[in-house]
Amino acid sequence: MDQIKAAITAVGSYVPEHVLTNAMLEEMVDTNDEWITTRTGIKERRILKDESKGTSFLGIKAAENLIEKANLDPKEIDLVLLATTTPDMPVASTAAYVASKIGATEAFSFDLQSACSGFLFGMSTASSYIESGRYKKILLIGADKMSSIIDYKDRSTCIIFGDGAGAVLFEPNEEGFGLQDEILRTDAIGRDFLKIDAGGSLMPASEETVKNKKHYVYQDGRTVFKFAVSNMADVSEKIMLRNNLEADDVDWLVAHQANKRIIDATSKRMNIDQEKVLMNIQRYGNTTSATLPLLLGDYEKQLKKGDNIIFAAFGGGFSWGSIYLKWAYDAK
Ligand code: UT7
Repeated sequence: MDQIKAAITAVGSYVPEHVLTNAMLEEMVDTNDEWITTRTGIKERRILKDESKGTSFLGIKAAENLIEKANLDPKEIDLVLLATTTPDMPVASTAAYVASKIGATEAFSFDLQSACSGFLFGMSTASSYIESGRYKKILLIGADKMSSIIDYKDRSTCIIFGDGAGAVLFEPNEEGFGLQDEILRTDAIGRDFLKIDAGGSLMPASEETVKNKKHYVYQDGRTVFKFAVSNMADVSEKIMLRNNLEADDVDWLVAHQANKRIIDATSKRMNIDQEKVLMNIQRYGNTTSATLPLLLGDYEKQLKKGDNIIFAAFGGGFSWGSIYLKWAYDAK
């Protein structure tokens, strides 16, 4: 087999120390542990408390974790891709800062934004560069400091999100391991249901926008939920059919962690047993661009060379998709 595929060859991850529990949220907004647990599956999330640090801090930590574990010389990295919805600043690439700080001085880098699908779309981007033969080592990071855009007085959003980062290394593989297939979609129908109104070109920051809390995430949860359930399940089922994968052939489902009920609906449609579904929503909540690589970090030791993995995500835009990847290594 001589066709070049893009394989994940290393994983790193990082979550900040501070734990925000459901009990603590009960003190902040009108909510309760029972509601949050049964409606979302979340028990706690991590928050980057240090206000002097942004998303780059999280991304650097995850990248450094990968570099150390893989014993990688950062100078060998050709490209650093950073999926994020919370860049350090609107201008001045966060990826550039991260790349320089980790010593990837021979690389170019850029940010990639597609809300909760950012990392999934980044996997496609990284893989295309590898498959074309143009680059050999691509570091894809998913990092978000969601606490910087959440209103901790809004119970419909503050219970869901958390901060974190994960990173993977993509390298060429000629033995058939790596990304096999993808179905990626967007539909602007979602623009009204999950958004931050202000701070962009449509509604620049002003005293008025700050006063009206237009810089925080707004979500019509019920509508997003409906679209997430049907679309994520649709593409996950379709990618199995297209690749002649029966439920038994799928070893793991790595799905975006926004709501346990959405993940359950997806795995049910795929006919996949619960023990094959990677889950860490109870500990981290929804970390947007970081959820997929954080799952890989948590479960790395259980993933075996040759395992068939289905990735799935859904997020703002709307944006969603599914990727079929053959895992390339046994963790040490
Ligand atoms: O990652 C990007 C994609 N995002 C998602 O996939 C998120 C999708 N949406 C969801 O996960 C869910 O819609 C939520 C978890 C956000 C909300 O759950 P829900 O089951 O859809 O609740 P709801 O918004 O329909 O609200 C049900 C009730 C309402 O009260 P009434 O009108 O029935 O009296 C809400 O006011 O629950 C109330 N409620 C709460 N109660 C206690 C809403 N938030 C809370 C809360 N604690 N935090």
